[in-house]
Amino acid sequence: MTRLRLGVNIDHVATIRNARGGAFPDPVRAASLAAAAGADGITAHLREDRRHISDDDIDRLVREIDLPLNLEMAATPEMLEIALRHRPHAACIVPEKREERTTEGGIDAAGLHDRLAPLVRALRDNGTRVSLFVEADRRHLDAAKSLGAPVVELHTGAYCDSRGADRQRHLAAIREAAAYGTQIGLEVHAGHGLSYDTVAPIAAIAQMRELNIGHFLIGEAIFVGLEAAIARMRQLMDMARDGVHQ
Ligand code: PXP
Repeated sequence: MTRLRLGVNIDHVATIRNARGGAFPDPVRAASLAAAAGADGITAHLREDRRHISDDDIDRLVREIDLPLNLEMAATPEMLEIALRHRPHAACIVPEKREERTTEGGIDAAGLHDRLAPLVRALRDNGTRVSLFVEADRRHLDAAKSLGAPVVELHTGAYCDSRGADRQRHLAAIREAAAYGTQIGLEVHAGHGLSYDTVAPIAAIAQMRELNIGHFLIGEAIFVGLEAAIARMRQLMDMARDGVHQ
């Protein structure tokens, strides 16, 4: 099976920094450690309220880190201007509500088609690879395709938060969406809420090309260090790809 890329989301290093308003811990240092630990990319969400990652963080990530940057962004004129200026390797369009604790669902790619079209086009024309963060639902994959976005990232939050038969149902939907997305020519990624306990079935999906993981890794880093946490996640992903069951 193709090697699965791991994008490490460093937002919550900035959450801890911002709790005291100073300069540490530094998310750019986390990005550099992630690179040393075998991450394939760095993911950061510049939220409209700047609750974790700041404009200066994005500026430094672009200048100081060699790994490809995946900028998560809301579909707003302000974020578009920032993305066009920094020209990250990839931009993942996410829905954003100020009152939410984290990105709660996928973007309504089908319903927002006409609003998203100029944004996707502007990013693409500027050389950024656009991905849409969507629920595992064919309607949104079809919309991504018709918008000309080359990538979809499937939301794994509901799969991670559920148990038993419910989790199996969410997993089946993610599998089906990965197969369908690939069939219509999209590259399929996944992320949100993944941990050591939930990553293997997602990593084992043959069509999957990239996982973006943050909160769990930053939490685990408190106990074992960031490099060890990333190395363990990488190992679990590789074992799942190789059909090794833990
Ligand atoms: N992918 C997307 C599109 C996200 O919005 C997030 C959360 O910022 C993640 C992946 C990573 O999720 P988590 O921090 O729960 O691992």
